[in-house]
Amino acid sequence: MYASFKSIGAYVPQKRLTNKDLEEIVDTNDEWIKQRTGIENRFIADEDESTSDLAYKAAEKAIARSGLAKEEIDAIICATITPDFFCMPSTACVVADKLGIKYVTAFDISAACSGFVYALNIAKAFIESGLKKNVLIIGAEKLSAIVDYTDRTTCVLFGDGAGAAVIGASELLEESVLDIHTSSDGAYQDFLITPGGGSQNPCSQKVIDEHLQFLKMKGNETFKLAVNTLTKDVTRILQKNDMTSTDVDYFIPHQANFRIIDAVGRKLKFPQEKIVLTVAKYGNTSAASIPMAINDWYESGKLKQGDLMLLDTFGGGLTWGSALVYFNQKDS
Ligand code: UT7
Repeated sequence: MYASFKSIGAYVPQKRLTNKDLEEIVDTNDEWIKQRTGIENRFIADEDESTSDLAYKAAEKAIARSGLAKEEIDAIICATITPDFFCMPSTACVVADKLGIKYVTAFDISAACSGFVYALNIAKAFIESGLKKNVLIIGAEKLSAIVDYTDRTTCVLFGDGAGAAVIGASELLEESVLDIHTSSDGAYQDFLITPGGGSQNPCSQKVIDEHLQFLKMKGNETFKLAVNTLTKDVTRILQKNDMTSTDVDYFIPHQANFRIIDAVGRKLKFPQEKIVLTVAKYGNTSAASIPMAINDWYESGKLKQGDLMLLDTFGGGLTWGSALVYFNQKDS
């Protein structure tokens, strides 16, 4: 029995934050943001909207499109770095409650931007071992809650949103989550970090005064490492599966920066029409970025059942990963 990617769903909050809006907040400009990142816009959750609200709306769509009843979901994994609550309860438990799903395995994972691919890997293992039948995986972020809107080097990059997928089972290899590779290197832990609020530096007046509860990034260093690591990782998974870029229908990378995607896409010889790009619309939504991009491609009518997707991702930890996945939503 293989794990199979049975459906996709996403939710984007209403409030739009454009590059022009950001010009009013920090010393930046539309031209710099577009040229260095490709980002034109991002969406921001309301104050009373939490990560679980975004996740719940994406999950409802994914479950409806899977054709399953909610009761058939037997595990919920939520990948997020912006959980509703610090430590507990997990956002997955809160989402389960909002969905009305009881007595289900539910937990969060923390792998930053790589969270969705990590969650997919866990779901694959659950299903292929026979431990679970239908796993709801979610990537959801309210990054606006940890972005410092006085720091122009980070605040222009991030947005909020959620994406979800139902991973079920299939006997057919051509309907499967074919292969996944995930990895990390903690030596680069300070490249992307929220230094305050954890056990190393608990919440205090000092943490707040020094803005240590907010996300910090060594952008330039992260950029260089991302391009090299992703190129190597994608080459490795293709070679391992005896494939080249021509075998892949859509290359769906983490949407951090157009220049990273472009550099990796060129090195791997992906034609433009195979590269899924949503970074201009949504900015970087961390764990939500890949499922939001898959959903965009599906809703625009481009992604069809049987298409082979190549996912690749890179983020805080540092973590990274890639996956070869047949899209198996029946109504597509
Ligand atoms: O999702 C997780 C993984 N994340 C990533 O992979 C992100 C990787 N990094 C990046 O995408 C890019 O490094 C950034 C978009 C963050 C920055 O682009 P960059 O080309 O690496 O710029 P830089 O950091 O080298 O800064 C160039 C200049 C600096 O000015 P000086 O020192 O040359 O005078 C910055 O102070 O741009 C300045 N700058 C800005 N100017 C206008 C930095 N941020 C801004 C800004 N607006 N928002």
